[in-house]
Amino acid sequence: MTLNIIFSKSPKNIKDTLILPVYEGKKTIGTADFLNNNLKKTVNATLKKQKSFTGKKDEIYVIPTPTESDIDQIILAGLGDKKEFKALNVETLGGKLWPILKQHKCDKVYAFTSHLGLAKKNDEAELAAHLSMGLKLRSYNFDTYKTDSKKNKLPKITFGTTAQNLASALYKELSAAADGVFIARDLMNEPPNNLYPASYVSMVRKDLKSLGIEIEVFDEKKMEKLGFHSHLAVGMGSARKPRVLIMRWNGLPKSSKAEPIAFIGKGVTFDTGGISIKPGPGMEDMKMDMGGSAAVVGLMKSLAARKAKANVVGIVGLAENMPSSNAYRPGDIIKSMDGKTIEVLNTDAEGRLVLIDALTYIQKTIKPKMMIDLATLTGAMMVALGTEYCGAFVNQDKLWDQLNEASSQSGEKLWRMPLDKAYKDEMKSKIADLKNLGGRFGGACSAAGFLQHFIKDDKVAWAHLDIAGKMIHKSDSATVPAGGIGFGVRVLDRLVANNYEKK
Ligand code: BES
Ligand code: ZN
Ligand code: ZN
Repeated sequence: MTLNIIFSKSPKNIKDTLILPVYEGKKTIGTADFLNNNLKKTVNATLKKQKSFTGKKDEIYVIPTPTESDIDQIILAGLGDKKEFKALNVETLGGKLWPILKQHKCDKVYAFTSHLGLAKKNDEAELAAHLSMGLKLRSYNFDTYKTDSKKNKLPKITFGTTAQNLASALYKELSAAADGVFIARDLMNEPPNNLYPASYVSMVRKDLKSLGIEIEVFDEKKMEKLGFHSHLAVGMGSARKPRVLIMRWNGLPKSSKAEPIAFIGKGVTFDTGGISIKPGPGMEDMKMDMGGSAAVVGLMKSLAARKAKANVVGIVGLAENMPSSNAYRPGDIIKSMDGKTIEVLNTDAEGRLVLIDALTYIQKTIKPKMMIDLATLTGAMMVALGTEYCGAFVNQDKLWDQLNEASSQSGEKLWRMPLDKAYKDEMKSKIADLKNLGGRFGGACSAAGFLQHFIKDDKVAWAHLDIAGKMIHKSDSATVPAGGIGFGVRVLDRLVANNYEKK
């Protein structure tokens, strides 16, 4: 069950809870004809006198209302300075309102923008839609394994806006992206005893099939035949065998000759490091080492949910990296699908070995005009950018511009990182074509350099997003409850919408 939000010009039978957004410094609520005179007086008195609420961005103030009223509380919500207002930024306010609705056990919630007197319908629609998106994103809850979970009923939210149709259409798009984010978070939060390559495939199949997404799966035998040797090597140590999962969304008519675009995800369902085993503390987070693949699944879901007019292929490489007597070893030399040999110097640098076969397969079979891979690839990426930005290695300025624009529209922050022949050369081995480990410094860049050896044609636009720093939130934030973030779905959804869809 996900949160339901509807938009209405003037909601009737208002009761329970009201949310009233207010710009900074406003001393009255404005027309607000949905409030009776008593309530309006109360609200205006609060705005005039209450020092702890001035309408600053994300400030929230709850006014309990008299028992004889149908309304239990009015929540004032600060929009900040009107001159600096950006609709996307109101998502954090929406997210911060959610725990307050839970705390007050709200059943029916009526939020308004109609009192703001905005001249442009589009401004009001965007405000209503993004506030709703913030509420929805924060409403995500992973309680599958709580035996005492009470399956709390979600409140019903009605938005009173003069821009009803526009807001509703905008929210539909955002909400499709949120549903993509949610499946990504679900996959990331699943424990690794229950999420492994084969079960991952079943979960995705169950969720995506009904949306009209075609699904193809390669088991280990088929992978062997097709030459996924590098990917198979990573999975050798686990009793749970690797899989390749391909998802196709054909949003264009059959007659259309548009070349497809492709998204490739690292899906290491648990990364112990293998024989080059990781230290114990924090290893549990490595259940989320499939975050890149989860973003690809989430993206496919959101594209299908909003019936995107594009042909898109998503491919994810699934494997569990375990130490065992069957595991691949440091020192092994393996052969990639592409034919290049790779000396394994560290079995913990496994993500790149999974990605390269998927990259090769996609270039061989569908020849995309643009492809983007996502991976929780290196700890070094987190050393470089921390947890605020995702590093983006992009081989063409035009694709970077498109990504940068999509990033500012979605709020998923990207920082461009360098691709350089020097990083490629660093990955050459003395006894094989390549090695999977670079020098001590710049590990995120040499990992990207390794991947670049497998990009066959420089004319194909390619980006590698190292999302290691954007994998997990350790505690609740405004729009992401603690757990897997589901990063990547929103920025790529906008990238496709802006540049790769037939209008
Ligand atoms: N999955 C890890 C990277 C990672 C670390 C993601 C922390 C998210 C949070 C990856 O497979 C890995 O272990 N990389 C090694 C590479 C090294 C051996 C070259 C790393 O970063 O230490
Ligand atoms: Zn690793
Ligand atoms: Zn890994």
